[in-house]
Amino acid sequence: MESILIKGGVPLEGEVAISGAKNAVLPILAATLLTSEPCVIRRVPKLSDVKFMVQILKWLGAQVKYEGDTIRVQAKKITGAGDYDLIRKMRGSICIMGPLLGRLSKATVSLPGGCVIGARPINLHLKGFQALGARITIESGYVHASTKRLRGAALFLGGRAGSTVLGTANVMMAATLAEGVTVIESAACEPEVVDLASFLIAMGAKITGAGSPTITITGVKELHGAEHEVIPDRIEAATYAIAAAATNGEITLRGARADQMHAVLDKLKDAGACVERNGSSITIRRNGRLKPVDITTLPYAGFPTDVQAQMMVLMILTPGLSIITERIFESRFMHVSELARLGADIEIEGPSAIIKGGKPLSGAPVMASDLRASAALVLAGLAARGTTQVNRVYHLDRGYENIDGKLRQLGARIERIEET
Ligand code: EPZ
Repeated sequence: MESILIKGGVPLEGEVAISGAKNAVLPILAATLLTSEPCVIRRVPKLSDVKFMVQILKWLGAQVKYEGDTIRVQAKKITGAGDYDLIRKMRGSICIMGPLLGRLSKATVSLPGGCVIGARPINLHLKGFQALGARITIESGYVHASTKRLRGAALFLGGRAGSTVLGTANVMMAATLAEGVTVIESAACEPEVVDLASFLIAMGAKITGAGSPTITITGVKELHGAEHEVIPDRIEAATYAIAAAATNGEITLRGARADQMHAVLDKLKDAGACVERNGSSITIRRNGRLKPVDITTLPYAGFPTDVQAQMMVLMILTPGLSIITERIFESRFMHVSELARLGADIEIEGPSAIIKGGKPLSGAPVMASDLRASAALVLAGLAARGTTQVNRVYHLDRGYENIDGKLRQLGARIERIEET
């Protein structure tokens, strides 16, 4: 198993190209199951989650070809049952259910188990499919959904923490081939949902309101093939933006979309960073002393939960008290005890972390627990004195394309080693 070794204390400088968005490309690849015609998806990031999704598509019977950062998929003839183990490995694959139900009127997938960041049930996905007329049964770890033909319906998809991103994506995809009109209320407004809707519209779907809490889908008989370029990854971009402020460097994020990152860029400015937009790039550098800020994670356009851990690192480096409140997932503070190994002073009070910042960090061996926690450990290692070893970096490779290579280009002293 691989680890990452970081010698910290170097201000990062230069330009980094932002890859395609993981959380857009996964449902977009699933959406190719909605048609028997060829689809071409561009700017696909090289991530292990993408590899899993490709394995699942092939398992279902689709032809899949990789060409650089382009994937060609043709799902001429497919089965309705996903491989148990493959799906269990990656929660995001639950979004094959909507396309299978829409196209084949049946779908069987393994129940995605819990996850370190929270229980993550799929009750809202199933509620949406039932509203469209599907019969749902759960047996031996599988969810079975079947129907004669899906029928459009009005449904409310809000849950404990507000909207659901993949729930909205799943129901929207199923509804594209339903009979009649579906109206999803309390839909997720994330840019990844909008990107999926753009791809579906390019396939011939009739969708309005994507990006707003009310999405309307008028079902059609069938969809055709289409080409699509995935949006840039706003979470990857936010991670490098925080790296610039945390190491007191200057980084230009090539291809990042500032219009999809308002909450993060706004908090970075409040914390004392300088944010410059120039065309399709954003340049971030520190602007004098860092200032403590309080953060509460919320559904889009609020502060993203996927940037909470990385922003915590910046607050650890900032003299003063700051409070970070996690409102989306119940247990997304796994990184706190590992950051304490580097010398961070954090107290957890219910959904909030109280950070007493400003103490210098010193390198140590730490353990990654999930994707964004591991990104935070890398950022902390870059800012710390001495050497940090981040173990179980397979978590990182799920969502960051070539992170150590990109950081090395920015001047970081970072290398991959076999875990000792
Ligand atoms: C997506 O997960 C992202 N994953 C997550 O990114 C991201 O953290 C999350 O949205 C929130 O922004 C992908 O797109 C592949 P949700 P998703 O359904 O759709 C509860 C990363 O680091 N809920 O919006 O699974 C749920 O438990 C990953 O890239 C229900 O109660 O998240 C959570 O508390 C991590 N019932 C909240 O809603 C449901 O049926 C939001 O979850 C569905 C969700």
